[in-house]
Amino acid sequence: MRFSFAREIRPSTFSQFDPELTSLVSKAAERYNITQPALTAPIKALENELGGEPASTRLLRIEGTSSAHSQLLCWRNTMTIRTTKILLDGGDASETERIKRLIGLLDGQTTNPSLIAKNPEVKKMVAAEHGLSIREQMDEYRKIVQAVSPLVGDAGVSIEVFAEEDTTADEMLDQGREMFTWIPNAFIKYPCTRGGLLAAQESVRSGIRVNITLCFSQAQAAAVYAATKGAKVPVYVSPFVGRLDDIGENGVDLVANIKRMYAGGDGHVAVLAASIRNLQQLLYCFSLEAELATVPANVLEDWARNGFAMPGSDFKYTATGKPILYQELTLDQPWQSFDIQHELTRKGLAKFAADYRATLSQTV
Ligand code: E4P
Repeated sequence: MRFSFAREIRPSTFSQFDPELTSLVSKAAERYNITQPALTAPIKALENELGGEPASTRLLRIEGTSSAHSQLLCWRNTMTIRTTKILLDGGDASETERIKRLIGLLDGQTTNPSLIAKNPEVKKMVAAEHGLSIREQMDEYRKIVQAVSPLVGDAGVSIEVFAEEDTTADEMLDQGREMFTWIPNAFIKYPCTRGGLLAAQESVRSGIRVNITLCFSQAQAAAVYAATKGAKVPVYVSPFVGRLDDIGENGVDLVANIKRMYAGGDGHVAVLAASIRNLQQLLYCFSLEAELATVPANVLEDWARNGFAMPGSDFKYTATGKPILYQELTLDQPWQSFDIQHELTRKGLAKFAADYRATLSQTV
């Protein structure tokens, strides 16, 4: 049976064509707190999320598929994949809108100082005004996340504090407290340093959601777990896959190792796979059932071009670097007992600081 998508896709068509889709769409309905069990409600919700564009029109834009059935299957895969929440790694709300239109839904977004420095408006202002004041930079950051915030789902928008190796917990906390007021779905990103973990510990006590960034080792992830134990708000830890690959290690192993280590814990920290550079890495994170993955626009575009491919049972990840071995670590220890030093954390902080400073008119 062939038919025109834009006019003829209706809820009844979904269930008639692929009954499994009915339950998947219902699951989406549950996730979005839609009480009406009929298919029309979740489809309407999806359309609202797409800015009023009919969900069927989005299906038409999926490249590389020709028949109605394969397009339905692609969409079904998009639903299935939602075990791993998908976040956009970016700093520009127009990009968020574009990617959301392309893939249908975005659970959240992560930002960082380098991404904010690349924002077109920030670049224009920096060029025109020879740099921003610290307050202007904060205001621009706030405007960007306020534009992104309503476009994404419950995984929220991560906002990163400015920090260097010697930045104190109090200095980070001051920024974090202010940033947390910017949007209702903020997560504050603190680096995986002593100061960052102290700030995170204090933040979760006062109800501030956190995302611990620049995580490059299992010991750092264990420290995040121990420092935030008892948190009543969500806590993310972000292992950086691509940057470990850059130094010849198999970055995805770290995600696997942290998942394995946390399996013995109380589940209060969710693993957010970050620094994803290609589709293979993304698929592997899906297969590991990482709770979340933050992905740059080009990789999400590649995923769409590949029909929202999912890792099958025969999926094999081609490792390029040295394996990262699993360590037996006990999570029930004071966080200070873990060795949280990592060269890439230091380098990452320095790069974020340099990109942030490059937007300013004065040296700080
Ligand atoms: C995570 O939150 C970071 O913003 C991001 O994933 C860094 O990725 P990169 O290593 O490609 O800069």
